[in-house]
Amino acid sequence: MFRARRGVREGLLALDLGTHATRALALARDGDALRVVGRCVRAGAVGRDGIPMQVDVARARLGEVLDAAALDGGVLGRRVVVAIGGTHVRVARARGSLNLRTAVALRPPHLERALDAAAAIALPRDQEILHVLPTGYRVDGARTVRPPLDVRARRLVAEVAVVTASRLALDNLARILSDLGYELVDAAAEPLLTARAVLTPEDRRRGAVVVDIGAERIGAAVYRDQVLQGLVSIGAGAAHISRDLAWALRCDAAQAEELKLGLGVARTAAADPTHVTDLRLGGRRARVGQRLVAKVIEPRMRELLTLTRSALDCAGTLASSDRVVLVGGGAALRGVADLAEHVFDAPARTAPLRQAEDATSFTGLGLVTYASRARFDRDGRGRLWSGAMQRLRRVRRVLSAPVASRTHGNAEGPTAVRSVHVSPRVGVDLEVSDVRVRTRV
Ligand SMILES: Nc1ncnc2c1ncn2[C@@H]1O[C@H](COP(=O)(O)OP(=O)(O)OP(=O)(O)O)[C@@H](O)[C@H]1O
Ligand SMILES: [Mg+2]
Repeated sequence: MFRARRGVREGLLALDLGTHATRALALARDGDALRVVGRCVRAGAVGRDGIPMQVDVARARLGEVLDAAALDGGVLGRRVVVAIGGTHVRVARARGSLNLRTAVALRPPHLERALDAAAAIALPRDQEILHVLPTGYRVDGARTVRPPLDVRARRLVAEVAVVTASRLALDNLARILSDLGYELVDAAAEPLLTARAVLTPEDRRRGAVVVDIGAERIGAAVYRDQVLQGLVSIGAGAAHISRDLAWALRCDAAQAEELKLGLGVARTAAADPTHVTDLRLGGRRARVGQRLVAKVIEPRMRELLTLTRSALDCAGTLASSDRVVLVGGGAALRGVADLAEHVFDAPARTAPLRQAEDATSFTGLGLVTYASRARFDRDGRGRLWSGAMQRLRRVRRVLSAPVASRTHGNAEGPTAVRSVHVSPRVGVDLEVSDVRVRTRV
């Protein structure tokens, strides 16, 4: 239950639209940063693949979580920053160059112009730019990852990762929030927010892939040399495991979920043969063991991780030195890090959530730091249209202005793998007879 706290303050609301749960955090300024002061979580998604298709359902759910979080935190704010995920989130690599008549010491405006040129890529009409992230620069042919400020040069090439999301998702979210009296002030890509919350500076430098295993999707982002190397989204997740269990054991969805949480283990070899539970299956009492549950789970989890790895491989973003960090509800499955080590052939770990509350996800924590870094103050209405949206406006200006004679953009095409084939059923040949049925007289 959420209680109204004494005293109200200006604040901001952060929204994590998961496929399992919709989570809202109320944030208030605390010195230079934003602090979580209120929370609300409700089971259920706001739309399909992050796109609100049933507007009335989305409106009711969003209104409920946002109002409850604001009340819980005693926050007056109507501004909302949202994490956008789903297979419509894509990344494309692009370059833009700036040629100068004489060599000059490079200043921020020079970098901005090269970045703007890089971001001026032709996008499909249904996509909108979320982030333009510099991934490196070439200064008179020499490459550097850090901004080459004060370096004397005649030619500057900026390399960027342009992260885009469905315009349909963003427009409809903005409209639904506006109907509810809220204002969508910024949106950020979910895998990047999760990575922001869990990866250590060493992970980001040496190379790491963060894999967020949610209910109906997996988002993964790779960082190396401090910059984003790529991101992918897979339209499958931990809910597939529950569906496999329900099918294999002929039980209902709630029982399957309970079995997964209670007995679930990602590796059959790690299952305890003495760990058993009693269930009612189709009117009969049955004894189900952890080994049997693991026999159903392991192939599916292996498939999900393999799909993630293949998608990242296809995008050419993985390096042999990258480590794996697993987050999300699916990462709570026992033995999943061990399985991921086999699939990725790399060290893997799960990241335990510091705040044990279900209302706070790593994506939510990423949103807090993202919003903290953006300019946000009491009177600054709409100021949070920070990096992404300010740049988007600049990009639109660049696109609408006559082609600048000395800047040049060049896109290399999208690198995200968006849709994959997930097998409809679990890969093991499992018969109901595997379940030891205990008849009661
Ligand atoms: N211990 C566990 N073992 C296995 N699966 C689990 C465990 N705990 C939670 N899950 C599963 O994780 C999923 C929910 O994960 P999570 O809360 O990360 O989803 P979400 O954030 O709403 O989804 P999204 O990826 O869309 O952001 C559910 O399918 C749930 O059954
Ligand atoms: Mg999530």
